[in-house]
Amino acid sequence: MPVDHEFGGQHTELKLSIIEKYLRAFSTALQNKFSDLWYIDAFAGTGKRTVKVEARGEDLFDAEVPESVEQRRGSAQIAIDIRPPFHRLIFIESKQKYCNALRELAAQHPDRDIMVVEEDANLSIQKELKGSEWKSARAVLFLDPYGMEVDWETLVAIAATKAIDVWFLFSLSGLYRQATRKSDKITEEKRAALTKMFGSDQWERELYSDKGQGDMFGGGPTQREFDVKGLERYVKRRLETLFPKVFEPLALPVDKAPQRFSLFLCISNDEPKAVGLATRIASHILKAGNSS
Ligand SMILES: C[S@@+](CC[C@H](N)C(=O)[O-])C[C@H]1O[C@@H](n2cnc3c(N)ncnc32)[C@H](O)[C@@H]1O
Repeated sequence: MPVDHEFGGQHTELKLSIIEKYLRAFSTALQNKFSDLWYIDAFAGTGKRTVKVEARGEDLFDAEVPESVEQRRGSAQIAIDIRPPFHRLIFIESKQKYCNALRELAAQHPDRDIMVVEEDANLSIQKELKGSEWKSARAVLFLDPYGMEVDWETLVAIAATKAIDVWFLFSLSGLYRQATRKSDKITEEKRAALTKMFGSDQWERELYSDKGQGDMFGGGPTQREFDVKGLERYVKRRLETLFPKVFEPLALPVDKAPQRFSLFLCISNDEPKAVGLATRIASHILKAGNSS
């Protein structure tokens, strides 16, 4: 029995097709140059995703189609299917039931080096990457959380390897819900989540005007100065303090407001050759994503 894992919307299809294209091009380009090519899926899910396909009424050309449920490939299965293959696949997932599904998936590929890590992704990445040597290895890491689960310290650990390209689905809606328009609506819980995500409490000074609007002396609550696009630019600038190259993100969903996610690609390797390769692959893929 497959474990049901329903998530995302139409933008999920696009996101996963972008990751798939990047993984294939990355593996093709570096297969003979590095003895260790890794794929790390930090919020791995089950390897499958359950999609409800809406019913369609009868029309001139087609008969009525009832609602159906399909199992499509999730990121872990997509990574396994990439040819030439990644040498090692690491799937990190905190939910036990989903890890069991991932273990079953791994068992179907006994010839592959697949590791399932049942742990919090932030803990696992920070612990495993700290002080790790990346001389003969290169990796692509996918951060695909539901919301704002990625801690700044996790990004610090990834950037420090100088060997990992990261695709990061950033929850912009999570950010604009926590960083409320008026500063007096930011609860302590929201404040702590934002500080954990941005790695310092400077966001409060940087996102909000210093002029209070509540009373004639300039006191009272302040207003967030950034709209949704401004928030996305702010996130990009923060990522640029860690990574030598951060590409213009893809706004998701592409065809429907409001924007809920920004799909970022960050390169941790500052060598021109590495940035050049990522640029050649990604600019084409991201441009095609924007026009789809
Ligand atoms: C959007 S889904 C990932 C979907 C997956 N990329 C795919 O394409 O099939 C997010 C996953 O992250 C897992 N998750 C949530 N918080 C986590 C954490 N702190 N550490 C590891 N996994 C986590 C959830 O259980 C869920 O399976």
